[in-house]
Amino acid sequence: MSVGPGGRAGGYHVGDVDTVISVEDVAREAEQMRVVVGAEKLRKLAHDRPFVSIEGLRAGYGNMEILHDFTLHVAKGQSLCLIGPNGAGKSTVLHSIFGFTRIFGGKIFVGEGAARRDVTPLTADRKLKEAGIAYILQDKSVFPDMTVEENLWMGGYLLHSTSAAKASAERIFAKYDRLAARRRHKARVLSGGERRLLEISRALVMEPEVLLVDEPSIGLEPRFIDMVFQILDDLQHKDGKTIIMVEQNAKKGLEFADLGYVLVSGELALAGPGDELIKNPDVARLFLGG
Ligand SMILES: Nc1ncnc2c1ncn2[C@@H]1O[C@H](COP(=O)(O)OP(=O)(O)O)[C@@H](O)[C@H]1O
Ligand SMILES: [Mg+2]
Repeated sequence: MSVGPGGRAGGYHVGDVDTVISVEDVAREAEQMRVVVGAEKLRKLAHDRPFVSIEGLRAGYGNMEILHDFTLHVAKGQSLCLIGPNGAGKSTVLHSIFGFTRIFGGKIFVGEGAARRDVTPLTADRKLKEAGIAYILQDKSVFPDMTVEENLWMGGYLLHSTSAAKASAERIFAKYDRLAARRRHKARVLSGGERRLLEISRALVMEPEVLLVDEPSIGLEPRFIDMVFQILDDLQHKDGKTIIMVEQNAKKGLEFADLGYVLVSGELALAGPGDELIKNPDVARLFLGG
């Protein structure tokens, strides 16, 4: 896709609205901003007490390796946002943590100290049940013809009993009034914001420690975007959840998250505190629209 001044083909708007950088240009330029980010620095960013770690991961789909020697550390109760061009492999990082990719090398660990555990080979069900990792699925994941409460109960399908799932759902209704008010409504009548809240809540039925969130703002009206980030903020700061997210809206994502990682072509290009990355001129130019 070639785009010059006035060219309005899909791309990132940068500064003047007539100047658009194509996705390919962003990828090419982002490639050049890559610095070697040492393992030491990544551990430090996680206060030297990583709770979720990815070490030297090589992973992809079929025979295709998408992530090359990728390392990530996040402490308990910390949040981390992955940004980067389309197709960089951001979602693949979340898929790999949850067990949806083919892993060619490297390891994934969860837990601190003696409780630290290699979860690399666990299936997604076991990641959720035994390792406390939940992946928040979007959009088509809600069952439209089931009620809100039935959808929540489904989130507890791995629990030992229906009553345990129902009890967990009640805790969620007690926390989120706007969901409780809708409990007997079919999910199909929910607004975009309520549906996203249901998607998040359904993942909470299993009381996970780690939330993997892929593009929480996608497809939402601005007022709902703020609501969703507020919900995630509460989950992190009140409930102590560890959050790893991908966000196309890099500004929102970096404002929200303690740590930011820039991923380019399956490799880490930059990493730092979210509020530092947001001030980085290259990040601003390529991902923040100005
Ligand atoms: N299920 C899949 N099977 C095969 N290739 C995939 C699959 N999902 C993603 N890919 C490929 O992996 C690469 C990274 O994709 P993805 O992780 O979705 O990027 P991002 O989230 O950064 O936009 C892309 O080239 C994409 O086409
Ligand atoms: Mg993605």
